[in-house]
Amino acid sequence: MSAWGTADWLTAWNWWTMPVTVIGDVRTEDLERLAAIHAACFPGAPWGSAELAGLLRQDTVIGLVVRRANFFGTRTPVAFVLARLVAGEAEILTIAVDPVHRRRGFARQLMENLLRRLYHDRAETLFLEVDAGNEAALSLYRRLRFRRVGERKGYYAHGTVPGATALVMRTDLR
Ligand SMILES: CC(C)(COP(=O)(O)OP(=O)(O)OC[C@H]1O[C@@H](n2cnc3c(N)ncnc32)[C@H](O)[C@@H]1OP(=O)(O)O)[C@@H](O)C(=O)NCCC(=O)NCCS
Repeated sequence: MSAWGTADWLTAWNWWTMPVTVIGDVRTEDLERLAAIHAACFPGAPWGSAELAGLLRQDTVIGLVVRRANFFGTRTPVAFVLARLVAGEAEILTIAVDPVHRRRGFARQLMENLLRRLYHDRAETLFLEVDAGNEAALSLYRRLRFRRVGERKGYYAHGTVPGATALVMRTDLR
């Protein structure tokens, strides 16, 4: 028979009060997992870990990741966004959520964090391109007050349909 000591209670307290998800900058050790998420989201045009690393080495590229804790407290990436900011104008390079972790608000949280970061970094506008048939993404962006400012026909070789149209959307940060 053994009673719990102070250290045991502190460990239990830390475990119960630990946030289940945290958002932070992408780290090198995330890259393999992010490449797997990207491949699950964009099977026709996956970005490998070397490609992601190459982008993140650029000073203009911002990468944010959602890490989710499992039962043992280990945090694993479940969603990420990459954006580029040059001379006050930013663009989303990609956003991807692990299919088993969708509809839990992770994309919205990533985008809200990104918008705050970009505002802090003096960005004036944020652009993105989205497949006109991607209802989930369109709904996400509309809720974040992006508006359509153009389109590119036949833009996506591996879109919702072959040669899918890209809608160009924009939101102003200032
Ligand atoms: C689009 C995507 C990023 C959304 O990620 P998510 O974490 O599931 O989205 P969230 O839970 O944060 O949802 C935020 C809002 O997006 C919209 N949305 C998300 N998934 C949706 C779906 N399947 N159908 C309709 N609207 C959806 C809703 O407006 C939702 O708000 P609500 O939950 O209050 O209704 C995700 O589906 C994904 O990774 N898709 C594959 C990659 C992709 O298409 N990336 C975008 C390329 S431009």
